[in-house]
Amino acid sequence: MAGSWTSWGGDVHLDWDPATGREGLADAIRDAIRAGRLARGDALPSTRALAGDLGVARGTVTRVYADLAAEGYVHTSQGAPTVVVADGVQQASPPRTRPRSPEARWSLLPGHPDLSAFPRAAWLSATRRVLQHAPASAFGYVDERGVASLREALAGYLARSRGVVADPERIVVCAGYAHAISLLAIALRERGELAFEDPSLWVFRDYARAAGARITGVPVDGAGIRVSELDSPAVVVTPAHQYPLGMTLAPRRRAELARWAVEQGGYVIEDDYDGEFRYDRKPVGALQALAPERVAYAGTASKTLAPGLRLGWLVLPRTLVEPVRAAMATHGWRTPVLEQLVLADLIGSGDYDRHVRRCRAAYRARRDRLLAALPGYLTPHGISAGVQLLLTLPEDGPGEAEVLASAKRQSLALQGLGPHWISQGEHPQGLVLGYATPAEHAFSATLAALGQTLADVSR
Ligand SMILES: Cc1ncc(COP(=O)(O)O)c(C=O)c1O
Repeated sequence: MAGSWTSWGGDVHLDWDPATGREGLADAIRDAIRAGRLARGDALPSTRALAGDLGVARGTVTRVYADLAAEGYVHTSQGAPTVVVADGVQQASPPRTRPRSPEARWSLLPGHPDLSAFPRAAWLSATRRVLQHAPASAFGYVDERGVASLREALAGYLARSRGVVADPERIVVCAGYAHAISLLAIALRERGELAFEDPSLWVFRDYARAAGARITGVPVDGAGIRVSELDSPAVVVTPAHQYPLGMTLAPRRRAELARWAVEQGGYVIEDDYDGEFRYDRKPVGALQALAPERVAYAGTASKTLAPGLRLGWLVLPRTLVEPVRAAMATHGWRTPVLEQLVLADLIGSGDYDRHVRRCRAAYRARRDRLLAALPGYLTPHGISAGVQLLLTLPEDGPGEAEVLASAKRQSLALQGLGPHWISQGEHPQGLVLGYATPAEHAFSATLAALGQTLADVSR
């Protein structure tokens, strides 16, 4: 059983099994410090409060705190709170990785486009052109922000396709959104907490935490993030298609969030991971256009081309360009030049747009086939955009664990909603289905495996 302490404002989750006793409790607190859930300067709950929450003797907690003080993790003093004095993030346990299931025969794991649709011929032609024409100097150590021709191509593409207020000088090309969020976490570290939507993809919270950010959650309701509950200097949002719940941030909330950022001097990180894929309605433009000096726009080639390329981009408020460039420089990071030149060529030739249009039509057709295959007692959400949808499970039906176990029997990899939540407690149960993931030839069989999985648990 895992415990969590609740009588304390921070509400830090403790993975503690009472059967492991005092040693186990000390381990759980060490882990929380190492993983950055508890940062230097944080006060631990009083021995009385923690003992009460966990249902153990107060003396046990007192001894645990004394052990941790002797090891240099915390400082205790008579009559004052026990305070964390170690910096954990350098020794943080490795972030949990994305769900992958190479052993499953079929997969509806979210996060992938159809890799078999990668535009090999267009990429090859663009690579040829680049190698024929690029000067030798192009292969040197270029500006940390990325290759100028790609930043120019992206500025034009993002302005026209997503309404982003883009200027090549403010663009930083990086190794996907995973890299972008790490860079921003470093650049914003001094400002304090970084808020994420609750729920959100845990992978990126882990990356930000590993980069030194203190993470907090802000609830999401039917209209998107509850801006009125924001109490952090910076926040990460997915306005076009909330991940994983799937709604579009309501117009009044978009305006409220932009106003919050301008009035409070806060920063918004806009994760526009699938903005190119919108099916039934007009595309929603980027939030960044409402407050370009407060919103850091992040895009990626992971959904439009392939995640293996590791190509993403940031369009930054002017005040963040130098901190992000400096974060690249101090870590010795640069994005590979050849891929940048090829992507610039692909955008310039129109092949990128043509590929995105083809994929949009294909994914829309898949979405329709998936919806048609779902049993009526399940409710899909977030179906008008992107490459994944959320399927909520009825309260009186099978839960996530049961469905995932059934999927395993069908050799089908599925992702539950559970790990996305930041707050503890009861949450709706659901499945996040990535319908772009299977190769085209495997799509029908994958739908059949899903049908069998659901039929088996509804009996
Ligand atoms: C919510 C969200 N943001 C961003 C990304 C893109 O991540 P990356 O560019 O690191 O591949 C994904 C991909 O799965 C995602 O699901």
